[in-house]
Amino acid sequence: MKVLISDPLSEEGLKFFKEKKDFQVVVKPKMPPEELKKEIKNYEAIIIRSGTKMTKDIIEAADNLKIIGRAGTGVDNVDVDAASRKGIIVMNTPGGNTISTAEQTMALLLSLSRNIPQAHASLKNRQWDRKKFMGIEVYGKTLGIIGLGRIGTEVAKRALSFGMKIVAYDPFLSVERARQLKVELTDLKGLFKVSDYITVHTPLTEKTKHLIGEKEFKLMKFGVRIINCARGGIIDDKALNEALKSGKVVGAALDVYEAKPPEKSPLIERDNVVVTPHLGASTGEAQEKVAVDICRQVIDALTGGPVVNALNIPTIEPGLSKDLEPYMQLCEKLGSLAGQLIDNKIEELKISYSGEILNFDSKILTIAIVKGILKPILESGINLVNALVIAKERGIKIIDSKESISQDFTNLIRIQVKADKKETQVCGTLFTKTEPRIVKIDEYYVKAVPEGLLLIMHNIDVPGIVGQIGTILGKQNINIAGMTFGRLKQGGKAISVLNIDNPVSQAVIDEILRSKNILDAKLIKL
Ligand code: NAD
Ligand code: MLT
Repeated sequence: MKVLISDPLSEEGLKFFKEKKDFQVVVKPKMPPEELKKEIKNYEAIIIRSGTKMTKDIIEAADNLKIIGRAGTGVDNVDVDAASRKGIIVMNTPGGNTISTAEQTMALLLSLSRNIPQAHASLKNRQWDRKKFMGIEVYGKTLGIIGLGRIGTEVAKRALSFGMKIVAYDPFLSVERARQLKVELTDLKGLFKVSDYITVHTPLTEKTKHLIGEKEFKLMKFGVRIINCARGGIIDDKALNEALKSGKVVGAALDVYEAKPPEKSPLIERDNVVVTPHLGASTGEAQEKVAVDICRQVIDALTGGPVVNALNIPTIEPGLSKDLEPYMQLCEKLGSLAGQLIDNKIEELKISYSGEILNFDSKILTIAIVKGILKPILESGINLVNALVIAKERGIKIIDSKESISQDFTNLIRIQVKADKKETQVCGTLFTKTEPRIVKIDEYYVKAVPEGLLLIMHNIDVPGIVGQIGTILGKQNINIAGMTFGRLKQGGKAISVLNIDNPVSQAVIDEILRSKNILDAKLIKL
């Protein structure tokens, strides 16, 4: 397997690949986009930091790529939607550089308060100017934190130990968690009104782009100080420059900028702006941690191990994967069966889970079902990453639900597919947690193994059907491995499900269809 490393990565991570003989690692940093677009076709995985831009164009050319591994947190340099559409896992290493970035934020906050970079530069210039660099204490001041995730939380803890009061805005954080952290949750307006310092720690998304702009600066306290150690673009650099010019903002400390590098930004020239060139994660410890994490994760994911920290597929806890695997297989087979039983465009898919299966995250099981349904319909390229994206594109409405008690089985998966106003139902279970069975098709109870080739027929419940079908298959040397029947009442309509060892031709199916009391027949491949 070939892995491309397109940004500088700590040797500590690369070491893991050297121990595996199945991997060939190519380190090629700073490739122009056109070269990367050609080169990427040869790789199963790419490991990047923030330097490589995985655009839609490059991703579409990546025909063999299975994983984009980001050594770091932010994935704003990856078109995650394009990767999902192509079935490529995007994973990052959240947490590896949290402490380093929180420390960088504190370093910037203190530098800003005590004019350390400016005083340093002045003394290096042989000037002894003590008046010019009069600072302020952070003790007793209010720090407004926007985004109280991993880094925001670590910043809060450190700032509290400096005697600062913390207010925070994070619409996804519970009041309880904020209370535990000794932080007061507020809305954005409230935060702007009371903060002496404001630091941002959200991801850069459509919603957070220019979260702080001209309008927001107007709502702030006069003399506020701004810190951005998250992503350029969360703060509107132009509006920040104006706010600094007007004196509304008395100083800013920035690690990230809208343009990277910020060659033309007037912010760089301002005396009251402390700047670093995106150094938040630039410590030996952080770089080692993210490199080790991403290399381990990519090796695991490419060798069938647990997939963790993926942004476009649910994480399967390593300890659960062994128990989950038989359910995943059952779900995919049941989905495939349901998909092959219907011939029209699928409109709606209803899935319900009950019993022991509820111990698992049903999202990944639903994805397996959808993958199973779409696989026989689509040419190729459907996997757990893109199954839901493709289902959405095809206008399939997916409704899944959980029922705590399963009436007849210890665990049960029920799939109802609506296509052209007709509904088809299949249900399955795992006996003794390992043996998969189809237990219901439409209204008929059956007991069939969802494996290999299945011949499914509707017939009238009369004597002689088994002999009739057995004779036709026997003539063609087709062995019957298993048989199950279901009926609603004696002499009424019934279903026959046969597991067979060899494929049947259309001619044989036609012969079965001509037999007396056979209503329909279909060969299913699972
Ligand atoms: P995280 O996912 O742990 O935390 C992000 C927080 O932002 C979450 O709590 C989320 O609820 C909150 N959030 C999302 N949208 C929001 C909104 N509209 N308003 C307020 N809060 C919102 O991420 P993290 O690991 O703490 O990283 C935070 C940021 O720091 C990211 O942008 C990341 O890319 C950046 N980062 C920068 C460096 C660096 O070198 N400067 C290093 C690491 C991370
Ligand atoms: C991150 O998102 O992890 C940081 O910005 C550091 C980096 O880009 O490597």
